[in-house]
Amino acid sequence: MKDRVFSGARPTGRQHIGNYLGAIQNYVGLQEDYQCIYCIVDIHALTTLEATEGLQENIHEMMLDWLAAGLDPERSILFVQSHVPQVMELHTLLSMVTPLGWLTRVATFKEKARTQPHNINYGLVGYPVLMTADIVLYKAGIVPVGEDQLPHLELAREIVRRFNYIFGDTFPEPEAKLTTTPLVLGLDGVKKMSKSLNNEIELAASAEETRERVMSAFTDPARRYRSDPGHPEVCNVWRLHHFFNPDQIDEIADECRDARRGCVECKEQLAEGINLALAPFRNRRAELVARPQYVKEVIADGAHRAHAIAIETLTEVKERMGLI
Ligand code: TRP
Repeated sequence: MKDRVFSGARPTGRQHIGNYLGAIQNYVGLQEDYQCIYCIVDIHALTTLEATEGLQENIHEMMLDWLAAGLDPERSILFVQSHVPQVMELHTLLSMVTPLGWLTRVATFKEKARTQPHNINYGLVGYPVLMTADIVLYKAGIVPVGEDQLPHLELAREIVRRFNYIFGDTFPEPEAKLTTTPLVLGLDGVKKMSKSLNNEIELAASAEETRERVMSAFTDPARRYRSDPGHPEVCNVWRLHHFFNPDQIDEIADECRDARRGCVECKEQLAEGINLALAPFRNRRAELVARPQYVKEVIADGAHRAHAIAIETLTEVKERMGLI
């Protein structure tokens, strides 16, 4: 049997270039060698109260992007977390072997407690336990995540070790598989590309929308006039060229440095590169948009297949814990 991969992502709606380069591309590649399970974690999203707004639409749009990008429901299980409610049972059971101190020490918890002091809820403390339940419900050994999730994964391993120690070997210790793509910065050239910062380029944007977004990008701040020499190494447009015009990357840098190219042309070229690269994705997505029933079927089938595995694991866990 192939090793199992599990990853979860919050329902953030339409995905952007940062999501693609940082996660989705990696998810797609792993399908070659592993049995992959990819989950839209709608329950996790509820730790932030505003999340309920547009939740269903966000899930649908995200699944459209996943499918159009090459996640393949024939090979992988694609589903929505709450559709397999056994994860919440397992979360409760795992919470019994998780010392509270482990959870309140987590940096993301402390950060959330600081940024949403009006809503430091119990779910927020248990966030990593639910994440652990996600992974181990499917006995996944490999978890593709970004660097920011490493502390959560370390905690998952500790919970697994403790469970296995107390109740006998049940779960594999999940290992993080870091994505190799460096951080993708947004149009501001300063912060990580993210919807909430409105600095993103959506995969599903039209060619014209993409061009407009790219033209608004910040470039080298020291370059005020077209005739000024540029500094590609501090320019995010140049960084983005790495992904979309990799063959011309040195030429672009040289031309920028001796002011043979201006920022406007440089951005025009980037927009063209992005539009060219994303054209097949956008065509596939348009086909899927025309078949909303198909997307629903994929989600239902994913839940069905995930459920079968979940029931098996949960029964074993309950036996080990003396509940059966
Ligand atoms: N915490 C992850 C994030 O915010 C999402 C997530 C939930 C996850 N469950 C998971 C990731 C299980 C990997 C495995 O990005």
